[in-house]
Amino acid sequence: MVTRLPTRSTDLLAELAADVERLFNRHLEAPRLWYPHEQIDWGSGTRFSDRPWSPEDYPIADGVRSSIYVNLLTEDNLPYYTHSLTRLSPSSHPITDWNHQWTMEENRHAMVMRDWVHISRCIDPVLLEDGRRVQMFRAEVPIPETFADLICYVALQERATQIAHRNTAAHLPKDDKIGRNLLGLVAGDETKHYLFYRDLTLAAFAIDPSTMMVAAAKQVAAFAMPGTGIPGFTRHAVRIAKEGIYGITQFARDVLDPVLSLWDVGHLEHLTPDAERARLDLVTVVAKLSASVERLSRKGSKPALA
Ligand SMILES: [Fe+2]
Ligand SMILES: [Fe+2]
Repeated sequence: MVTRLPTRSTDLLAELAADVERLFNRHLEAPRLWYPHEQIDWGSGTRFSDRPWSPEDYPIADGVRSSIYVNLLTEDNLPYYTHSLTRLSPSSHPITDWNHQWTMEENRHAMVMRDWVHISRCIDPVLLEDGRRVQMFRAEVPIPETFADLICYVALQERATQIAHRNTAAHLPKDDKIGRNLLGLVAGDETKHYLFYRDLTLAAFAIDPSTMMVAAAKQVAAFAMPGTGIPGFTRHAVRIAKEGIYGITQFARDVLDPVLSLWDVGHLEHLTPDAERARLDLVTVVAKLSASVERLSRKGSKPALA
């Protein structure tokens, strides 16, 4: 299938080439080289054929177990995210090099997490593999229409993923230093990815604020984590939110607040009429979200974001 790029997005992509190169070089100057095999205590493993998995192997709240399951399966789905990114990336553009680097770094997340999951026995390995097969056969991932949509979505998603890994690590048992440490390493990679996309969106707002305003409003209003193909995703998302790991509250407070304040959408000037409408839509969406978070926090519950 041939994807036709919308003209305006193609222009934005071309105009961002120097910024992509600058941010990619910045990313490379602060390497985070770590080895998945060094994070694991291999000697502590037991064959599942000798001792089948049981929840007592790693006692933990359902929401934390759901979070490890969803976060790992989300990392497993990497081939389709790479495809989603590269379909809007001409091979001669520096964004292609970034996509390769990003894919290479993301690839170690599922590897190290699965090794830890199997050694620590924190997740039922049969449930995990069944979930992986279903999800990857579905190949369900967000498909942003334009390059502006894509960088807005990925900036939000990398930040959300960083928060989800970080908060999951904080909910692990205190004596699982290995799990806490490796989820911290993964969250650190997500932080660097977020910084790349965050600053790329800032450069794009400076070049074409109207296109970016329209894209930002659309992506914020429709934002969902990229794990919707996971069996029972909504049920797991509710558990994860109830545990205070990731839900509407974290999305509003830890993802949207910092990103929107950097985009400074309230002060953008010379917007087209479409972009002015998008700004109003965005303000309305954010106000409704804040009201929901406020209302639910008064009730003492933690809403999910599926
Ligand atoms: Fe990742
Ligand atoms: Fe990432």
